[in-house]
Amino acid sequence: MIKTQTLIIGANSVIAKAIAAKLQTDTEVGLIVISRDLSCYSGMCNEQINKITVPDYQSSSIEQAIIGITQCDQALINQAPITQVFICNGVLHNAQLKPEKRLEDFSAQAFQQVMQINALIPMLWIQQLTPILTGNTPCTLTVFSARVASISDNHLGGWYSYRASKAALNMLLKTAAIELFRRAKNIKLIAFHPGTTDTPLSKPFQQNVPADKLFTSDFVAAQLLNIVENIEVDGEASYLDWQGKSITW
Ligand SMILES: NC(=O)c1ccc[n+]([C@@H]2O[C@H](COP(=O)([O-])OP(=O)(O)OC[C@H]3O[C@@H](n4cnc5c(N)ncnc54)[C@H](OP(=O)(O)O)[C@@H]3O)[C@@H](O)[C@H]2O)c1
Repeated sequence: MIKTQTLIIGANSVIAKAIAAKLQTDTEVGLIVISRDLSCYSGMCNEQINKITVPDYQSSSIEQAIIGITQCDQALINQAPITQVFICNGVLHNAQLKPEKRLEDFSAQAFQQVMQINALIPMLWIQQLTPILTGNTPCTLTVFSARVASISDNHLGGWYSYRASKAALNMLLKTAAIELFRRAKNIKLIAFHPGTTDTPLSKPFQQNVPADKLFTSDFVAAQLLNIVENIEVDGEASYLDWQGKSITW
């Protein structure tokens, strides 16, 4: 019987799929997966998984998805609260952009796109999820950040848009945690750095990464699930790496 539910947003990410695969083996955990493309979940059509496809991540689409979450099984939500949320969306490169090496590479359009995907989209989810997560049941809400977002640890430079967008994301999480401490004490916010993980996002940048520092998504998912299971809901945002170690903001 399902006792708790886990919500995975940006569920087509390679790391998201590894989290889902791990949780699917636990019959007490229900899954809600949200993505623009859920075809990879077509094999998992059992009672344990609710799938919500979004056309995009505009505010109105997120609003519709929230209605979907609450309507898809109100009875289930009452019996089995959402206790874990993972927001996996993030972009480093795509057909229109790549991380900047020097000032000349910077483009306003690319910057806006990266900011929208890496900072704005997670913020809209936090805004719209808070009412349905607020209550007495502890809930962790993990957003995928990156170590390069650390302002104090920036010694290498480069990657202007990605760094700035994840640093903005971290500030949004820190700020939201202060508000949630007053009005939704059960929600714990986590900015998570998975380490360099073998996914399409890191593919073009893997050549200089030592083999033992390039993680599988399966390993990262196991680390993250262990971290969120054991973390204290303490009213603060935590910025953690894959070992559960704090990163300086
Ligand atoms: N892999 C690494 O080495 C590494 C290192 C540090 C941090 N991270 C972070 O970890 C997270 C997961 O990354 P991953 O490595 O698993 O990457 P991935 O497999 O390439 O997944 C990409 C994710 O970004 C979303 N996305 C891509 N383009 C988008 C767009 N135009 N609009 C909205 N969403 C978009 C996808 O959402 P859909 O499900 O809707 O397609 C998916 O959730 C990211 O936030 C990334 O920044 C990864």
